Amino acid sequence: MKIDVLLGLQWGDEGKGKIVDVLTPEYDIIARFQGGANAGHTLKFDGKKHVLHLIPSGVFRKNTKNIIGQGVVLDPLIFVKEIEALEKLGIDLTDRLYLDEKVNLITPGHRLLDALNEQSKGKNKIGSTLKGIGPAYTDKTARVGLKLFQTQKNNFNELYEKLKKEHLRIANSFDFEIDFNLEEEEAKWFEALEMLKKFKYINCENYIPEALKNGKKVLAEGAQGSLLDIDFGTYPFVTSSTTTVSGVCTGLGVAPSLIGDVYGISKTYTTRVGQGPFPTELDCEVGQYIREKGGEVGATTGRSRRCGWLDIVALNYACKVNGVTKLILTKADVLSGLEKIKIATKYQKGDETISYFPSEIEDVTPVYEELPGWQEDITQMQSFDELPDALKSYIKEIERITNLKVYLLSTGADRKSIIKF
Ligand code: GDP
Ligand code: IMO
Ligand code: MG
Repeated sequence: MKIDVLLGLQWGDEGKGKIVDVLTPEYDIIARFQGGANAGHTLKFDGKKHVLHLIPSGVFRKNTKNIIGQGVVLDPLIFVKEIEALEKLGIDLTDRLYLDEKVNLITPGHRLLDALNEQSKGKNKIGSTLKGIGPAYTDKTARVGLKLFQTQKNNFNELYEKLKKEHLRIANSFDFEIDFNLEEEEAKWFEALEMLKKFKYINCENYIPEALKNGKKVLAEGAQGSLLDIDFGTYPFVTSSTTTVSGVCTGLGVAPSLIGDVYGISKTYTTRVGQGPFPTELDCEVGQYIREKGGEVGATTGRSRRCGWLDIVALNYACKVNGVTKLILTKADVLSGLEKIKIATKYQKGDETISYFPSEIEDVTPVYEELPGWQEDITQMQSFDELPDALKSYIKEIERITNLKVYLLSTGADRKSIIKF
């Protein structure tokens, strides 16, 4: 058995939560491998919507185990809030949610520094979700961050105080202050930390290969998207983790040879929340139409998402970096009602027309191909054959340019709105 991976191919919010939920019945274990509560993964079924931030999207299916891998940065406060919200729905995860004890903890100081860093950037803000992600990964790389296993040591308070002192030293170096009650946050944080203890701590690098050996099916659930990857994203407007496939190896301790299928998810158009370049952005009525029809509002921050046409230059790049084997397209229903649909197939960069994704995309202009739109409501359609001809042609064109077959088409937010090809 090999571990399959599901990840976003754009700037996040591709519909990963929904697709994990659709695929979960085929899997025994769902594991998050990177990121933290900057993620907002939405699932919809039985007329209800659920948004998960830290907890894997497999939790709504009773027979599935869920893992938070060591590559994740975990804020105990948010974790406990999510657990309590799920308990209210009658979902008890004590026996089927495991935490890798090497997970790095997000402390209140990380959230404080995230807010200060962002504010100090003025108009060059990254648009961070302010969940403390950047500072937490910074401390991990600087080898001063706190890991879950350290909370069981006698000197944990000492380690915490040392880190806090350093955070306050940095905070005091800014020439402005922000409203942040550290003592209050800290009291809640320690309380939440106590509650983590009721979950089983594991070591992914033992647990997952062993599970695979025993014939269990494991799916790694990505957060964010490939274009937000710390190395391959649109730096510096990125997050601080490896969102691409190699993050699975470091985040879950599995060898590259154990990676199986890579499900890459893309919307049938593009969105971006936060700052940074976005060549196919539609700052016009069509963009507004997509935003409204697609409900394009951030699941974590409530910010409006920027909307634009599908960018196949970026998509091909993300498919290559991740070695995507199965392409999944979402939100095709949102494009219904448009007269024409465009896809960017190349970039104009200075005098050159290029079809690769350059390190800097600030100055590129997309070269579009125009296709006819379709008017039909597709949300109830159950097969490829039923789809409008124009949508079929759109999908075939995407398949042709990416040289990948579409595996699933999502036609609505509900778990039932899915077409398998
Ligand atoms: P994630 O971060 O990748 O899990 O995606 P988000 O949950 O942040 O954003 C995707 C949004 O689109 C959510 O509101 C989903 O309920 C919704 N969604 C997912 N797939 C579809 C689809 O095919 N059609 C429509 N209309 N909405 C969808
Ligand atoms: P999911 O998993 C969309 C963006 C933020 C910001 C940048 C850095 O729901 O797809 P950070 O908080 O990580 O310091 O923010 O990354 N960002 C996301 N955008 N979806 C997400 O997650 C995101 N997580 C972070 O908006 O631009
Ligand atoms: Mg999201």
